[in-house]
Amino acid sequence: QFKRGLLHEFRKGNATKEQIRAIIIGVRKGGTRALLEMLNLHPAVVKASQEIHFFDNDENYAKGIEWYRKKMPFSYPHQITIEKSPAYFITEEVPERIYKMNSSIKLLIIVREPTTRAISDYTQVLEGKERKNKTYYKFEKLAIDPNTCEVNTKYKAVRTSIYTKHLERWLKYFPIEQFHIVDGDRLITEPLPELQLVEKFLNLPPRISQYNLYFNATRGFYCLRFNIVFNKCLAGSKGRIHPEVDTSVITKLRKFFHPFNQKFYQITGRTFNWP
Ligand code: A3P
Repeated sequence: QFKRGLLHEFRKGNATKEQIRAIIIGVRKGGTRALLEMLNLHPAVVKASQEIHFFDNDENYAKGIEWYRKKMPFSYPHQITIEKSPAYFITEEVPERIYKMNSSIKLLIIVREPTTRAISDYTQVLEGKERKNKTYYKFEKLAIDPNTCEVNTKYKAVRTSIYTKHLERWLKYFPIEQFHIVDGDRLITEPLPELQLVEKFLNLPPRISQYNLYFNATRGFYCLRFNIVFNKCLAGSKGRIHPEVDTSVITKLRKFFHPFNQKFYQITGRTFNWP
């Protein structure tokens, strides 16, 4: 209620640099939208509705930090403003640029089992092609190099899922303590404990409760309840049905990601049950 309280309306303004204390930097198809929307349930968090793409887009970056600040939502001084642009995680220049804005910023990364994430990534691109009545390759054809029969590391959906490679670039600028890894698979099935870990990481008092999250059987996902009248589910573009992928390709990919995953667990101190 405080968030919407008219009495306090006059104190609202564009986020100051100090209020941009956390960013969801990725990973694409990890559940970044769900995480942002769910965090926005917290009275001390205000989200930027759109992906701002300030740090990964040279043209936007050239417009300067004031442009970025103005793209952020209005908020009260005690609130944290937060945005998500999943391309940040994989874009070379971004860590340095964010460091220059705020070297003590908290960085949230939401990950999913890498092979599932790659297929989800493919599914999104496939849907875009189909919308334009274009045909597209099968996932198997993109993910496996036809000459070597090995995993095609040139394929972006594969590369993005090598989480440790990207994280290592970030670690040249930020210590590991400034990152929090969210389990995107668990955010789907059991969102509350994941959100409570984020509240803790952001030093926020625990305010998100089971009341705010209800399972919608039709959607097959948790939806958000802000109050007695206002609730919402994520758009239909979240939770697409993935095409069936050849099991031998899945096995090959899982084997390929395995050593990278081990390294990722080691660096982050968070272990997942990925095969
Ligand atoms: P799929 O479409 O593969 O199922 P992003 O927002 O980063 O693009 O991630 C999209 C993914 O968020 C979806 O992937 C979906 O599984 C996941 N997700 C997590 N929680 C969700 C929720 N409550 N509602 C809808 N999708 C959710």
